[in-house]
Amino acid sequence: MTRRPTAILISGRGSNMAALLAAAADPSYPARIVLVLSNRPDAAGLGRAQAAGIPTAVVDHRAFKGDRAAFEAAVNQRLEAAGVQIVALAGFLRVLTEGFVARWQDRLVNIHPSLLPSFKGLDTHARALAAGVKIHGCTVHLVRAGVDEGPILAQAAVPVRDDDSEATLAARVLEQEHRIYPPALAALASGRVRIEGGRAIMTGAAAPDAALANPLPGPVAPPTPSAD
Ligand code: GRF
Repeated sequence: MTRRPTAILISGRGSNMAALLAAAADPSYPARIVLVLSNRPDAAGLGRAQAAGIPTAVVDHRAFKGDRAAFEAAVNQRLEAAGVQIVALAGFLRVLTEGFVARWQDRLVNIHPSLLPSFKGLDTHARALAAGVKIHGCTVHLVRAGVDEGPILAQAAVPVRDDDSEATLAARVLEQEHRIYPPALAALASGRVRIEGGRAIMTGAAAPDAALANPLPGPVAPPTPSAD
């Protein structure tokens, strides 16, 4: 089996990157992480990648003074030098141009902290709470030119609890991000994804039998009597 040379692009803490690195540490994983690239020199994920022995690079977008094409050309140069075939975005906070997206068509994957197409963009957990949704989650998708658009590879749903804060909800979603990103990247890297219109079909993937309902259907439990 040839393992597809893959780069992870980050801007920050890199917990999804760490989940991908952990999965790819298994020699049977179909993607080999050859580069972790950050647009921010202070991204905490860079240290985590170095500790795992993965080559890192920084292409600081501020050096390009708003010239996105020049920034992306510099990123592409690093990717090509490392022989990269697949690019996994993991908390990479730069909007990519159509040119970059076309260059990596169907080989560029992203993770987003909502059940797309709901809550594209930033502050997804606060917006989910404000909207009052009972179920929230995360999505791994192929990247298209529109922000947070593209065929969906995998999603995970979590309940929103009445006492959730943005932080507790984010933590519940993040745990699922770490769970769904590695197998979705593996499916892409092993050629098990085909695109039909707007849908990504993954061969060999199983759908669950169970549905998630929140609150649980059935009688509402009586309030717990207070001690006094
Ligand atoms: C994650 O919530 C991811 O879905 C979003 O940015 C966050 C990055 O977190 N795109 P981390 O850097 O992977 O910890």
